[in-house]
Amino acid sequence: MPTLLHPVGQRGVALEIESPATTPVLALRGRDRRPDEAWLAKLIGPSSQAASPEKLMPRVKVAGFSVSLDGFAAGTAQSLDHPLGLRGGEIFQWFFPTRTFCQMVGKDGGETGLDDGFAQRAMEGFGAFILGRNMFGPVRGEWPDDQWKGWWGENPPYHAPTFVLTHYPRPPIEMLGGTTFHFVSDGIENALRRAREAAGAKDIKIGGGADTVRQYVKAGHVDEIHLAIAPVALGQGESLYSGLDLCALGYRTVEHVPTSRATHIVLAKRGMKTQDEE
Ligand SMILES: NC(=O)c1ccc[n+]([C@@H]2O[C@H](COP(=O)([O-])OP(=O)(O)OC[C@H]3O[C@@H](n4cnc5c(N)ncnc54)[C@H](OP(=O)(O)O)[C@@H]3O)[C@@H](O)[C@H]2O)c1
Repeated sequence: MPTLLHPVGQRGVALEIESPATTPVLALRGRDRRPDEAWLAKLIGPSSQAASPEKLMPRVKVAGFSVSLDGFAAGTAQSLDHPLGLRGGEIFQWFFPTRTFCQMVGKDGGETGLDDGFAQRAMEGFGAFILGRNMFGPVRGEWPDDQWKGWWGENPPYHAPTFVLTHYPRPPIEMLGGTTFHFVSDGIENALRRAREAAGAKDIKIGGGADTVRQYVKAGHVDEIHLAIAPVALGQGESLYSGLDLCALGYRTVEHVPTSRATHIVLAKRGMKTQDEE
């Protein structure tokens, strides 16, 4: 779902991504400054993802969350053929060419660089994920059976306990590669409590979609938000910002990195140290 994660559809085709990032909060200081290799290594490096002894508190993050310039995180009319809704793939054009995405879908190659650095941060180092039921799949209402197991095939890209918010309980599903989907029907606080327990010292990613991200941000649980703002308007879809006052909630911009495909913005709560400040 950038969130994250990349659904590989039922038909074996890479359909999209979604979402999740970690922490190194670095900024390009000075308009013309180009990132050097050390900067990129710090941005991309695995040390930024792994839980380290110095790290005091696991963080709750939204990462690699793609949004159109008019604030939509998915198109309308989600379906089996359109996991991101109609035109939703247009907001992930920064992600699809990356090496991180290619690896996720079992392809060689892919681009490295700034977009890939953010993609990597959005995918690695998380000890648990929380998703909304619509990100998990297109099935609505009562589960008709136990057939639907997510967009991603037998080995989803989470590799950690993944908590799916839904009003329709169902037993956990253990997938290959360390992902177990747990369905949570007793509220966002309980889902987060269980995710924290499961994640231990690692960070937790709120994978999406928009409804789920909004609830956790509004409730004050999200420490850091990485948005990849695509240079495209969708006009309609799932709105990320609806009812959200990011200023009142205490967020400040701590990174702002434009690339040719997106503008990456990282927001952190005021008073919270960024990783490079620790
Ligand atoms: N732009 C990105 O980076 C990104 C990332 C991830 C996903 N997406 C896309 O976003 C779209 C989905 O977003 P969305 O906003 O429609 O939905 P969502 O957040 O994925 O899921 C919402 C659904 O989850 C269940 N739910 C949410 N909160 C709950 C709660 N507190 N208690 C119980 N159940 C709860 C409800 O389903 P029930 O009542 O039916 O159980 C609700 O309708 C998809 O197209 C997905 O591919 C985009």
